[in-house]
Amino acid sequence: MGKKINIAIFASGAGSNAKAIIEHFQTNREVSIELIVCNKPDAGVLKIAKDHQISTLLIEKEQFFSQKSYLEALNEAKIDFIVLAGFLWKIPEVLIQAFPGKIINIHPALLPKYGGKGMYGQKVHAAVIANHEKESGITIHYVDEQYDHGSTIFQASCVVLENDTPEILAERIHQLEYQYYPKIVEELILKLIQH
Ligand code: GRF
Repeated sequence: MGKKINIAIFASGAGSNAKAIIEHFQTNREVSIELIVCNKPDAGVLKIAKDHQISTLLIEKEQFFSQKSYLEALNEAKIDFIVLAGFLWKIPEVLIQAFPGKIINIHPALLPKYGGKGMYGQKVHAAVIANHEKESGITIHYVDEQYDHGSTIFQASCVVLENDTPEILAERIHQLEYQYYPKIVEELILKLIQH
């Protein structure tokens, strides 16, 4: 067996993607979800972490953007790979440099459409519906210094129906996310293990 890979999941919200990833790797001895990093003390993802006995790191804005102290926590936990799952802050350059090519994100639309600053959560789905798009989907991509910009790893699409509300479309897209995000993380991790 090669090296064990430790993952940190960064999330700000409910954490349903985090949960899908945690459950996916629960029986995998080569991969461990070591840490959940969160910026909101009341985020649902913290309860998910607790239920699965995963350590959490709650970060404050000032600390995240002007200090490097959280990098120590990532080093201490021996993190190899970072998965963003509904994390709403832009990733600082220093973090990108510390994990080159090892930070990925999921966006609930078909980038490059409906991405960028302010395009998150229901706002994405509302914009897709307002523009009468016939399809939307998910984009899994590497993270660079710009919002929703790094190179695409994977996309999957779904229909947008005429009567869709942002909530209904969000649910359809969530199902795609649960279906693919854990598997794509696993594929990328396998490559890391083999190298
Ligand atoms: C997901 O739709 C993801 O694509 C986006 O934020 C949402 C997070 O949902 N980046 P959850 O917290 O995983 O339930």
